[in-house]
Amino acid sequence: MNLPSTSPDRQLALKQYRLRSRFYDIELAVFEPIRRKAIARLNLGKGAAVLDLGCGTGLSFELLQQDIGPRGRIVGIEQSPEMLEQARSRVARHGWANVTLLNAPVEAAIIPFRADAALYHFTHDILRNREAIGNIVRHLKPGARVVAAGLTWEAPWNFLANGFVLMAALHSVTSLEGLGSPWSYLAEQVGEMEVTRSGGVYIASAQVPGGSGAARP
Ligand SMILES: C[S@@+](CC[C@H](N)C(=O)[O-])C[C@H]1O[C@@H](n2cnc3c(N)ncnc32)[C@H](O)[C@@H]1O
Repeated sequence: MNLPSTSPDRQLALKQYRLRSRFYDIELAVFEPIRRKAIARLNLGKGAAVLDLGCGTGLSFELLQQDIGPRGRIVGIEQSPEMLEQARSRVARHGWANVTLLNAPVEAAIIPFRADAALYHFTHDILRNREAIGNIVRHLKPGARVVAAGLTWEAPWNFLANGFVLMAALHSVTSLEGLGSPWSYLAEQVGEMEVTRSGGVYIASAQVPGGSGAARP
């Protein structure tokens, strides 16, 4: 556990996930229902291309693959080499030929095409970085679906939920800044978001202006 800084701290994040990479999948098991709901809100069609930002060990890939099929594409962007190594092993184990993994901070990643959808699953540090959001939004097609999910403060009287959020956040993000509405920088760039929240966890979704409402190629 590290003391949080006032904005995302790349070196601290690299250290945090170097240590966590081996046990990460077990730690995240409790959030699987949220992952399912978040990915369902992407409304992906067969053949869609999706960006998985801060993809970690690739825990979202299997659900994404079920929706997009072998003609679809996944680009996983992850700055931690240790987390990405786990993602690489997962891709090899499944024999997925349609996954591109980029070892880069999202803000500097060179993305090979414009995508139909973007997923930010428990990636608070990325969501609080306007440069990172800008790089993604520039690589989305009109009408692309965007979904973010993660931790958020509840009402001040909800001590139990906020205690859980604080403990989980100290373990997994480098800045508590913006935990009241983690999606706010994203909303600046994609427009109003539909937000559901419960027990210290939110899911926020939106559509990049100018499309049909489904993330389909
Ligand atoms: C809590 S994990 C979430 C991983 C995955 N999205 C999931 O749902 O299991 C957050 C991930 O974001 C990555 N990360 C944090 N800041 C990043 C950045 N600026 N660019 C790329 N990855 C970043 C971390 O290395 C870590 O793997």
